[in-house]
Amino acid sequence: MRYDYFEEQDGVATNPSSEPAIGEVISRRAMLKGMAATGAFSLFGCATASGGAAADGSAPLTFVEVPRTTDDKAHVAPGYSVQVLIAQGDPIKPGAPAYNPLTQTGAQQEMQFGTDADFISYMPLPYGSKSSTRGLLGVNHENHRAALCFPGDPKQLSREQVEVQMAAVGFSIVEIAKEGNTWRVVRDSRYNRRISANAPMAIGGPAAGHDRMKTSVDPFATRAVGTFNNCAGGTTPWGTMLTAEENIQNYFSGDPTKGPEAGARKRFNLTGKGRYADWGRYFERFNLDKEPNEPNRHGWIVEIDPYEPERRPVKRTALGRCAHECATHAVSHDGRVAIYSGDDARMEFVYKFVTEKPYDPKNRDANMGLLDRGTLYAARFEANGKMRWLPLVHGQGPLTAANGFNSQADVVIEARRAGTLVGATPMDRPEDVEAHPVTGRVYVVMTFNEQRTKEQVNPANPRAGNKFGHIVEIVPPLVGGKPDHTATECDWGFFMLGGDPANPAHGARYGGKVTPNGWVAAPDNVAFDPKGRIWISTDGQDDAAGFNDSLYGAPTSGPNRGETRGFFNGPAGSEICGPEFTPDGRTLFVAIQHPGDGSTFDKPSTRWPDFRPDLPPRSAVVAITRRDGGEIGG
Ligand code: FEO
Ligand code: CA
Ligand code: CA
Repeated sequence: MRYDYFEEQDGVATNPSSEPAIGEVISRRAMLKGMAATGAFSLFGCATASGGAAADGSAPLTFVEVPRTTDDKAHVAPGYSVQVLIAQGDPIKPGAPAYNPLTQTGAQQEMQFGTDADFISYMPLPYGSKSSTRGLLGVNHENHRAALCFPGDPKQLSREQVEVQMAAVGFSIVEIAKEGNTWRVVRDSRYNRRISANAPMAIGGPAAGHDRMKTSVDPFATRAVGTFNNCAGGTTPWGTMLTAEENIQNYFSGDPTKGPEAGARKRFNLTGKGRYADWGRYFERFNLDKEPNEPNRHGWIVEIDPYEPERRPVKRTALGRCAHECATHAVSHDGRVAIYSGDDARMEFVYKFVTEKPYDPKNRDANMGLLDRGTLYAARFEANGKMRWLPLVHGQGPLTAANGFNSQADVVIEARRAGTLVGATPMDRPEDVEAHPVTGRVYVVMTFNEQRTKEQVNPANPRAGNKFGHIVEIVPPLVGGKPDHTATECDWGFFMLGGDPANPAHGARYGGKVTPNGWVAAPDNVAFDPKGRIWISTDGQDDAAGFNDSLYGAPTSGPNRGETRGFFNGPAGSEICGPEFTPDGRTLFVAIQHPGDGSTFDKPSTRWPDFRPDLPPRSAVVAITRRDGGEIGG
């Protein structure tokens, strides 16, 4: 179920500019006029003629669709197999005990795979190879669910239980290897790591050293502790992983209305009563009354080097602070790197960051500070099929001392407010934002926003009460035949409007014909296979449509562009996250997050994946392969 008691806080609208900004009203009128003229939204046509290069995403999908399911098991298309690779509590460090939920401690959990697996990144071993049989898996751990992990559904957690939670969230890196068609975790690998809410990390970029980042244990604001609520993420071309800190507002207790940070906290929906408010009971840094600046040290993109376990993760503050869903890269025509991100809240914005300098493919270490210098932008979509990236740069436009921005540190700490002032477009919970590796088109996934009113619709979020979500496609201009991801003006259109096309009330639109098993609700994370087709996982399909969350594939160009097909369904209560392919396209890793959500440890709605009476349902990463060893999707 999507709406458990803390997920209710996921995506809460706190943007005062949810009323359309000046100019948006005009845009909306223009859009409505445009609609009347064309009688339909323009869904972009295909970028490349059908039958083009294999990687353009035109190759048809050959699998037989999996029927809708509502049961407590996972289901995949015929001819494929699903292997549970690693689940919450599985040992990943030498000396780690087997998972026992009744005797779990924080120290044990620090040596075990975390909870609520979300984003997945696969990086080949050795570095620089294209190995699809040995690699490093980086996995986000978004939440720890007390109701499912602790007996008795505790309403107030003990210190020991909070320690388990702090050790269970964050990030894991595990080495994995494939033999035949079967993957295994290399338990004694030197690369295996947990990066939890206790992990030491550095702070880089414009907010490093700033007064608003200082705490009693870090008077110079250069050393943060921990990462948590890690939702989606991304990678860099130099082989580091990026993890996105999302709903950090849920972790703090105390009175948010006191002191100079009160206004900024409001925009972050920092109420002091979030789901993890017990953390502040035992650890002062999570108590706003004791450490008022601690929330400013979270809500960032964190860069992690999986190949150098001794290297400290860095919070890259130049990329802005919000409920970051993801941080995916695209190398532009000139070698500079764009990092795209969505702020997953109702009426919040889509961002991109462009590095000041190009990356150096020949000198890995030279790229390690690249994300500290560059330009952050927020997206504005116009009705005429154009969109603009608006710079969030201190001193430019309204981002001045007159509006409370005294430095670029202020701008990045309050990126949301900066986005409002420059006129960014309030979106329907922007989740994954990912550039197609060949065409450069950027897919922006909006999960849903059932709260948007008729007065609040705008060109890129055209449905009031948007229950089913949609995907916008940004088309950067080409320079010398290569996508320019540094451009501030691009074209845009819709890739799909979710919902059942057979039900006119849904207002669904797809690029082609979709079957009753192929239409999408609540799209969340996306990935591209080596043939350039898009794979879309969902979060909340159970609430929106009445069946379990799923994974779909669709061509991105050619005659079957936008025809989504149902490939995989999760067990009841789970959301499907982190789709990630090996370079050869023969393994698809998928995270099954919070199976059994909405139920309790004592009375779980499923015991997936173990189905053992002594174990609760466990979040896990599965490896999907084709039984004949071929490429996923055909
Ligand atoms: Fe953590 Fe935006 O889902
Ligand atoms: Ca997500
Ligand atoms: Ca989600």
